[in-house]
This record gives sequence, structure tokens and C-alpha cells, in this order.
Amino acid sequence: MSIISKSLQRIVLVGAVASALSISQPALADAPAATLHVQADKPGAAISPILDGVFFEDINFAADGGLYPERIKNRSFEFTDPLMAWRKTERGGAVGGLGISDASPLNANNPHYLHITVESPGEGFGLTNEGYRGMGVTKGAKFTFSVYARSDSPENQKLAIELIDPRNQKIGYAELTGFTKEWKTLSCEIESSATEPRACLTILDKSPGSLDLDMVSLYPQETFHNRANGLRPDLAQLVADLKPGFMRFPGGCIVEGRELSNRYQWKTTIGDVSERRTIMNRWNTEFMNRATPDYFESFGLGFFEYFQFCEDIGAKPLPILNCGMACQFNSGELCPVDQLDQYIQDALDLIEFANGPATSTWGAKRAAMGHPAPFNLTMFGVGNEQWGPQYFERYIPFAKAIKSKYPDIQLVSGAGPDPDGKNFDFAWNQLRALHADLVDEHFYRPPEWFLSQVNRYDNYDRTGPKVFAGEFAAHTKRQRNNWEAALAEAALRTGLERNGDIVKMSSYAPLFAHTEAWQWGVNLIWFDNLRSFGTPSYYVQKLFANNLGTNVLPATFDGAKDGLFVVASNQSSTGDIILKIVNTNAAATSLHVNLAGAKLSSSTANLDVIASDDLAVENSLDEPMKLSPKRSQMAVASPDFDYGCPARSLSVIRLHTH
Ligand code: AHR
Repeated sequence: MSIISKSLQRIVLVGAVASALSISQPALADAPAATLHVQADKPGAAISPILDGVFFEDINFAADGGLYPERIKNRSFEFTDPLMAWRKTERGGAVGGLGISDASPLNANNPHYLHITVESPGEGFGLTNEGYRGMGVTKGAKFTFSVYARSDSPENQKLAIELIDPRNQKIGYAELTGFTKEWKTLSCEIESSATEPRACLTILDKSPGSLDLDMVSLYPQETFHNRANGLRPDLAQLVADLKPGFMRFPGGCIVEGRELSNRYQWKTTIGDVSERRTIMNRWNTEFMNRATPDYFESFGLGFFEYFQFCEDIGAKPLPILNCGMACQFNSGELCPVDQLDQYIQDALDLIEFANGPATSTWGAKRAAMGHPAPFNLTMFGVGNEQWGPQYFERYIPFAKAIKSKYPDIQLVSGAGPDPDGKNFDFAWNQLRALHADLVDEHFYRPPEWFLSQVNRYDNYDRTGPKVFAGEFAAHTKRQRNNWEAALAEAALRTGLERNGDIVKMSSYAPLFAHTEAWQWGVNLIWFDNLRSFGTPSYYVQKLFANNLGTNVLPATFDGAKDGLFVVASNQSSTGDIILKIVNTNAAATSLHVNLAGAKLSSSTANLDVIASDDLAVENSLDEPMKLSPKRSQMAVASPDFDYGCPARSLSVIRLHTH
């Protein structure tokens, strides 16, 4: 008898039922070289229920041009070049002019607007917006076109609104009327008659006179959870499908700004969208080889929308706030310690905005935006990726002020950009002495580093601060979102869950990237104007997050287990035992599993597997699911069974118990 068939003898298939349910068991390549002993009746440490979260930053067009689905770029004419993304459009001998003015603007936060003068309308004078690398429209999709306008001759004023494809064909048309001499919002509906990733929008005036326009918007009527000013459904759904325990927002370095004037200030991101002050996105100029001169922050996606999205997807909100320090990789500008009050007050006010009664100053602003109930903020970050004594000079008064007013709010504190070294050790020593709540560790490292760190937290001090693995991603030499990276992340992730008593949260970073407008090469989800896909890393995260255990089950290996990484847990809501097994070996590897004390209630288990021999495999817009989990049922007649881990794979086995 061959070794393979000997091994197969140990698998108990349940006959006819097996074929009906397509019960499978990956072929065992060899007799098991190791036994995994799981003490199913001796649950260990509780695993944080919010271990897996998401990290959202407005980088790579993640907000404007991405999750925030406004199709008009520079809708408020507040870019440094106020006509960027717009071009003059003259039809049939039209004569006119476009100018930017700031006399009697809409409001002080939005000082510029467009002034159109039409001398001779011909067949139409106006302008065209290019969108974010074009505008994605699908056949039959309806949009609301809206604009703030005022006209010097409102009685004759009419605007033609056209959706145009790259062949200059009209694929949507609407007319706008109802102008007055004072600023007024006007809107109309426009439907696309074709699917096109690179449409543009033209506004044409067909009567002589002059007209002012601001906040020009083309907004899809379909949004995630049908929210007004809501999110792009496919992207939001990809995030929701991860079932994240928390969402970190709005970053990332964007919190810090290149200079303090460019930092993220949440108060300028709430209220009516026309009153949110547009600023240049710090990623606009960050990497000269990926310069993105048209990258600004409109804050259409602001703190209210972040909180609302968290609520919609059942994720705890985790805002990160500036603590008086601009990015230390850039200007490193510091707010003097004796002038930190404004920063601290912003944090206190944020807590009131999120949690305060609708009668409080900031709670009233939340209620006015349509959410009288609190958002239940329980934690926030003080600074992003700060390091050194300058951080602690600011963190200490900051934390003191917050804790004295809100002792229950958990604070996330930084440990710098590296997962080890002088700054990291300094930060940890300080934070231990300060009895900090959660320390934010960042690791953007090669796959080999991830494999070497699977046991990183096994010996962390259990009495000190907890860990938030707040930004991680395996970066291959060529910076590819491939299986090599994702498999290494899967291995490390077993170590995070096994140490679920100290590692409370973790998030891959960054979350989103536009395929034509990215700055950072390794990201969880990619998209263009119409399509999106999760990387292999996305599916690893999803498998782990969707199969999060309640308590770790002690698991030990007996025998050779090179290249195998395992975490075992139970799940109180289902009674399931969950085994997550990562095989980094180039060959299939057999494992004997013994679940001591388990009383199985079913002879089949759910099996989800992501596997590929090819470490270079990637997903793409054309092949979004090329590497993704495959679900099957596996026969398990007793708590003592063999499992053939496919070569280079992540397997999640869910065994049902009484
Ligand atoms: O995730 C991209 C960047 O990496 C973040 O903005 C920053 O915090 C880190 O350096």
C-alpha cells in the first residue's frame, strides 16, 4: 500500500452523504509528520472581539474619487488652481469667459466660485469637468446634478447638463431652471444611457448674461445603505464583508499633515458639505515619482460620515487625532507644548460630538446632521505615527486632560513607524511607565519578517499596555499584492489571535487604492471608476475576521511542523471549534489533528481554503477572484483526524460541537 493510500485510510468519509454535500478532503501527500494536539476542553485566553479591523486613510484616491462617490472633481473651485479639472467648452460660435471670483461667496470656508459671462451663446458656452480619471457611469444609473447658483437675468436662465463619453457622444441630458439673483441650490436628475468608466460632464449656458456657480455636484442616487451624501456601494460592501470590529480613520499620515496647517482637523469636515473647507491632500506631493497634483480633500467624506459608516457596518469607530505634531518624515513642525489647548479641546469636543446629548454644543451638531443618538465612541488615537521625546511631551498632557474628563475613553498611543529599534523601545518604556491603554505598532516589512514574527507576542508582558497592530502589510521586493505577501500575513495573523489577550486590535494598511491614481503600492482593495477587487491579503483578512474565535484553545505540535502555523479557538456563539492552518511549504503537508475533549455534533466540518503554488499570483480588475477562498465540506468522523494542508495555503476548518 502506498503512503498516500495509507494516509487516506485515516480519513473517514460518510458515504453517500459525502457526495451529496460534495464533501472533500485535500489529498494527503504523505503520512502526517506532525500531530497537532488541541485541548478543546481547556479554553485559554479570551480573544478580543475587535481583533480585526480596517484602516481607512485618504491616500490613493481612497476618499474623493473612491469611497466618496462625488463625480465632480474640484466642485467648489477651491483647488490651488481653481479651474483644475475644468475646461472651457464652446459650441457653435459661442463667445464667453470663465473666471474665479470671491465677492460675496457662499460662505467663508468656501471663498471661491465660478463666474461665467456669456456674450454670444452660439450653441452653448460653458465648461466640462473631467472627473477623477473620468467619471464612472453605468447604463440606467441615475445621478442628482446639483449646484449653488445665482444669475443676473434669472428669468431667461437655463443650463443644459450633458454626460459625454470619450467619443464625444451624449449619454445623458438634463436641464436646470429656477435660477434667482441670490445664491440658491438647484438640482435635476440625469440618467446615463450607457456604461462608461471615463465619461465627463458638460454644463452649457445658452443665453447671454452672467452666472455664478459653486458646489457643482454629480452624485449617484444609489449609495451604500441609501445614505444621503453616502458611499460607493461596491467599495463599502467590500469593507462590510470583512466584518471589521473597528474602523480606524482618517489615517495615517494625513492626520499629521506635512505641516500643521495641512493637518486633519475634524471640525472642518462636518456640517453642510458646502461649508467644509477643502485643503490639499498631503499625498498630492509626497512621492515625486507618483505625484498627484489633482489630489485634494473636499471632506465630503467627513467625520459624521465615518461614524455613520462604522455604525452601518457594526465597526467601532477609532478616530486618530493630531496631537500637535506634523509628520516627522516631512516638516516635523511642532505645536509648542504650552499651546496644545486647541488640540486637546478638539479631542474633548470630538467626544462630545460623538457621545454627547443632542442638547450639548457638539452633540447638537451631530443631531442637526440627522443623528440624535450617540455614536458610542470608546477610543481614539493621540497622534498617528509619532516618535521620540517630542511625542511624549505632547502625549502626556493630552492623555491627562482626556482621562480626567473621560476616564473610560481608551487612548491609542504611537510607537513610531518601526516595529523595533531605539524609538520603538523608547516609546514602549514610556508607555509602560504611563500605564497606557493601547500601543499602536506599525509593520511594513518583507514577508520573511512576518514569518519570523509569528511568535512575537508570545512573550510580551501581560501586565502592561495592550497592543494595537495598527498598520501592517507585507511588502515584497517588487511591492506586489501577491500571494507571497498574503501568506506571510496569514502566518503572522495566527500569532495575533493566539495572543488575543494582549493583541486587542489589528488592521492592514492602507485599505484602498485607485489603479490609476495611487501613491502607495501595496493596498488591501483596488478599484477603478466602475470596478473593484480584493487582493489575496483581503481574502486572508476576511477569512480570519469572519472566523474569529472567542477563546484560544491550547495547541501544540508533536513532530516536524516546519512551515506550518496554527491557531485554534472556540466560538461561543456557534459552539464551533475553529482551526486556522497556514502551510507555507511548497508541498502539500499532512497533519494529524487531535481535538482532546471535543464532542463533535456533526461528521462534517466547513472548510475554507485559499491556496496557490504560485506565490506571484495576484487578483486584478479583470480577474478579481483569481485567488480567493474555496468553500467545501470536509468529513470528520471523530475528533482525531488527518488533514492534508495544500501547498502554500490557508485553511480554516470549522468543526461543530455540542
Ligand atoms: O499606510 C500608509 C502610511 O504608512 C500611513 O499614512 C502612515 O501612518 C504610515 O507611515
